[in-house]
Amino acid sequence: MPWKNVQLNSGYEMPTIAFGTWKLGNGQGTIDQVDQAINVGFNHVDTAQSYRNEQEAGQAIRESGLSRSDIFITTKYSGLNGLDIKTSIQNSLNNLGVSYVDLYLIHHPSLARPDIPTAWKEMEELKLKGLVKSIGVSNFGVDDLARLLASAKIPPAANQILLHPYVYAQQAPIIDYAKKHDIVIEAYSSLIPLTQRPGGPVDVPVKEIAKKHNVAPEQVLLAWVNAKGAVCVTTSSKKDRLQRYLDAGDLKLSDAEIEAIEAAGALGAVGRFSHVASEVVKGDRSEIKTSFFLLLLAVCATIVLALRVHG
Ligand SMILES: NC(=O)c1ccc[n+]([C@@H]2O[C@H](COP(=O)([O-])OP(=O)(O)OC[C@H]3O[C@@H](n4cnc5c(N)ncnc54)[C@H](OP(=O)(O)O)[C@@H]3O)[C@@H](O)[C@H]2O)c1
Repeated sequence: MPWKNVQLNSGYEMPTIAFGTWKLGNGQGTIDQVDQAINVGFNHVDTAQSYRNEQEAGQAIRESGLSRSDIFITTKYSGLNGLDIKTSIQNSLNNLGVSYVDLYLIHHPSLARPDIPTAWKEMEELKLKGLVKSIGVSNFGVDDLARLLASAKIPPAANQILLHPYVYAQQAPIIDYAKKHDIVIEAYSSLIPLTQRPGGPVDVPVKEIAKKHNVAPEQVLLAWVNAKGAVCVTTSSKKDRLQRYLDAGDLKLSDAEIEAIEAAGALGAVGRFSHVASEVVKGDRSEIKTSFFLLLLAVCATIVLALRVHG
């Protein structure tokens, strides 16, 4: 297994590549996709309350036959249905069908209600109760983390953030801050240069490096994340691509290759790609917006139904 584990400040280890379940939807197809990832060799599943497929992820994990200690499960408090942290973790554990999760994250600083110190205290209580092994955050900036650390008794083990070459410069301060405080950075949506911004400056070094090493472009981007010391949180519906993701753990980029990717990323951050800075929050918000939209749709449908019944 080429991807190593990383040591967390909580004393536990975390596999450095995760299979994410955002946008996977529900039903047997979702179970099959998680099952496929586990069969290929993924032993870290990243889900969230707002993805609404913790049940499917849990079923696939249970049916995999792996013992609980052989799989690392991350889920997130997304403020779904306005429920508090204490209630939400119980729901997530029930959905997943497990007695604990390995890592529980506050999905976004705006969900730390009524404020970051109070919400973090609730997270600490979950750890003390043994419901979660490690606690962390997601999409936190330097100011958010500083506010948290000012009153924390238990420091966050990880901060899951948007990280790809076009936002690297904007994210550098939080990456440095996390490193200084022994907080692991998890990188999500690292393949955006390929999936949402094809044709940008990063394509040039990525394609060249891929050709030189005889690998696929997505492997180069994951190797870059690995070189930055971050955990990769990615996904794919395709078995061969999942295998390539795992193989990317063996790909070591030279300093010159890393610099070329970052120089191209910085080029994209000005000019045509200047709007990418806003993705630092957009990536996450779009998940939360989806949940809100579904809720709104459900409320409208209920009102229409009620009007029909009583009309
Ligand atoms: N904490 C947060 O706020 C947050 C936000 C976003 C995401 N996440 C987590 O991160 C996970 C991954 O997010 P993501 O889907 O945005 O990540 P990603 O790793 O950037 O993208 C994965 C997608 O890239 C596609 N892909 C891979 N190589 C490609 C190529 N060469 N050309 C075109 N498409 C390619 C795959 O498609 P195929 O299926 O066709 O292979 C897959 O759908 C999520 O599931 C979630 O767990 C967390």
